[in-house]
Amino acid sequence: MIYKEKQFILKDGTKVILKSPSVEEAKDILAFMVEVAGQSDFLLNSSEDFMNKTIEDEEKWIKGKNEGDSCIITVYKDGKIIANSDIEFMKHKKTIHRSSVGISVHKEYWNKGIGTIIFEELINVAKNHPNTEQIELGVISINERAKHLYKKFGFIETGIIPNSLKLKDGTYLDEILMTKFLEK
Ligand SMILES: CC(C)(COP(=O)(O)OP(=O)(O)OC[C@H]1O[C@@H](n2cnc3c(N)ncnc32)[C@H](O)[C@@H]1OP(=O)(O)O)[C@@H](O)C(=O)NCCC(=O)NCCS
Repeated sequence: MIYKEKQFILKDGTKVILKSPSVEEAKDILAFMVEVAGQSDFLLNSSEDFMNKTIEDEEKWIKGKNEGDSCIITVYKDGKIIANSDIEFMKHKKTIHRSSVGISVHKEYWNKGIGTIIFEELINVAKNHPNTEQIELGVISINERAKHLYKKFGFIETGIIPNSLKLKDGTYLDEILMTKFLEK
């Protein structure tokens, strides 16, 4: 689905626009993901993973979201992408009540309230989806900022994947699974 464009003002007065990207923006979204994946060890995908994606793959991903019921919400400042997020609604009969989210904010914009705005909007999208009863995500156990954000929105810890990520230097990171049960 297409998330209808909205404007927000950040804590520091910066004006940002939230909207679903068009297929024509595939190259910019991919370039953004390559950059942000290199700014944090806490994303499941590395810059290399995004570098290996073709523009056609990304176009297909955007088109699938825009034309299906799942949704991408991208954040722009002066026309430049500064954050990206998505919500995926599960489709199988037994899991149709579940959804999952992902989020990446450019390092320059951490702690300015963008994650909070995005989560308010993603949760509203989920609440307006007919079958969805819960939102799920995975977060690296030492990602304190992200855990704080998710707990603020009522996500609770439901499990752990030990050694979920193995970094280039051999360090293992655990992933905590979190769920928010929606009150409709
Ligand atoms: C995690 C992330 C999505 C959060 O987005 P953001 O725009 O920085 O979040 P916000 O500014 O809305 O909120 C951050 C909150 O964390 C708090 N915080 C910041 N550093 C913290 C820390 N070390 N420990 C605990 N809380 C912390 C802030 O005070 C703020 O809380 P508040 O709203 O109650 O004041 C973003 O920083 C990011 O993309 N990081 C890199 C990639 C990543 O980790 N993605 C998530 C993968 S699960």
